[in-house]
Amino acid sequence: MIFLTFVLALVTLASGARYTADWTSLDTRPLPSWYDEAKVGIFIHWGVFSVPAFDSEWFWWHWQGQKPPDPNCVAYMNKNYPPGFRYPEFANEFHAQFFEPEEWANIFNASGAKYVVLTAKHHEGFTNWESPNSWNWNSVDTGPHKDLVGELGEAVRKRSMHFGLYNSLYEWFHPLYLMDKQNGFKTQEFVLHKLLPELYNMVVRYRPEVIWSDGDWEAPDTYWNSTQFLAWLYNDSPVKDTVVTNDRWGAGCACKHGGYYNCEDKYTPGQLPAHKWEKCTSVDTLSWGYRRNMKMSDLMDLPTIIEDLVHTVALGGNYLLNVGPTPDGMIPALFEERLRGVGAWLYVNGEAVYASKPWRVQMENASVPVWYTSKGDSIFAILTTKPPKSTVQLLEPKTSANTKVMLLGNPKPLSWSPIKPNAGLAIALPELPCTAGQAWTLKLDGVK
Ligand SMILES: *[C@@H]1O[C@H](CO)[C@@H](O)[C@H](O)[C@H]1NC(C)=O
Ligand SMILES: *[C@@H]1O[C@H](CO)[C@@H](O)[C@H](O)[C@H]1NC(C)=O
Ligand SMILES: *[C@@H]1O[C@H](CO)[C@@H](O)[C@H](O)[C@H]1NC(C)=O
Repeated sequence: MIFLTFVLALVTLASGARYTADWTSLDTRPLPSWYDEAKVGIFIHWGVFSVPAFDSEWFWWHWQGQKPPDPNCVAYMNKNYPPGFRYPEFANEFHAQFFEPEEWANIFNASGAKYVVLTAKHHEGFTNWESPNSWNWNSVDTGPHKDLVGELGEAVRKRSMHFGLYNSLYEWFHPLYLMDKQNGFKTQEFVLHKLLPELYNMVVRYRPEVIWSDGDWEAPDTYWNSTQFLAWLYNDSPVKDTVVTNDRWGAGCACKHGGYYNCEDKYTPGQLPAHKWEKCTSVDTLSWGYRRNMKMSDLMDLPTIIEDLVHTVALGGNYLLNVGPTPDGMIPALFEERLRGVGAWLYVNGEAVYASKPWRVQMENASVPVWYTSKGDSIFAILTTKPPKSTVQLLEPKTSANTKVMLLGNPKPLSWSPIKPNAGLAIALPELPCTAGQAWTLKLDGVK
């Protein structure tokens, strides 16, 4: 018996720390290293909201939830649908008949992304997998009649990308949730009978390596049982060694507790944060879900996306770029073009991005704005504006006799001269290649 206890103790030690269900313990977990190295991910908002594809993925709430409702959404429904039409009827039109998970995964891989995060369930409650806790309100019973989560996950993993799932804690109109809310969140009927069984099941079935939690803000983490769930996730789940999560685990958690921090949608810090973070943003600046009335002028153009990505990575963040597929299962061609453009830029400049670390200085306004990253002894200076002259000045790097400067994508070292002894250099640029991303990377070795 004593021997057995001894062996058990060793096994526990060998399997690493165990976390207790409180933030003091959970917040000490180191992030699995793949996540910081990955830097770039693709976010996908897909669900029944992709069918009306009007307003945004918040359409149902704007139409029938918030008080007063959004007059545009009400007018749209009155004009185009028969009286009494109910939102769940849209699910019948969610066909996904052109959904080719292999094709999607090819596009995401071609974007240079290292992870993909799909909405397993948004605030409407519809699950893109056959959740036993979401009877008749999931993609297998209704609409596509397909396991969208499972099919995409397999295709993504086949290409060595990591697969993550977005999951909304709250559901706007779930009767148990509405009841708990009415009880001031003193009861947990929704959490114990819907949310948690579904979430545990989702993790065991699909082994997501990112759990992108959302919809937490109306109730405290104690209502959601977030710390109990995360302790299981980190100690005993099938993804305990590789999973990462964000910070949306209850009111007041954002930017404070969890894995990496999202803080808020499209959050961009002014300076280097102390904690790993991720910027999520969307090619369509007005929506995360597909909109049929999207215009080209609503979209981020490629140079804007690259600038945003570079800015994010220089400040230690990951960049999660969203596209909204159509209900027939297509990635709109304009989104595909943006993603392939990001990939073409990363193909040349990825050395400055993947597995990079923030440098001593993250940006300077020299001849043009310059964002810095570093890797080992190399530093990278990324120019997001074409310099007006054929030389560019960098003021922050401290040069030495061994300083060597390259332009990524160009085989020959560039000549340079010091500006002051030991501080700053002027670099003679070759003809800059016309890249779709409008950003160029200088690699500097032998500088401090
Ligand atoms: C994924 O993308 C990388 C980089 O662009 C490419 O080298 C690789 O062949 C792609 N893999 C697949 C399976 O398409
Ligand atoms: C939820 O949390 C309470 C403590 O707040 C705990 O007693 C209960 O076992 C937890 N339930 C689950 C399913 O995690
Ligand atoms: C560089 O210029 C931009 C735009 O004027 C400004 O927002 C930023 O703070 C400046 N950065 C530094 C490091 O001076």
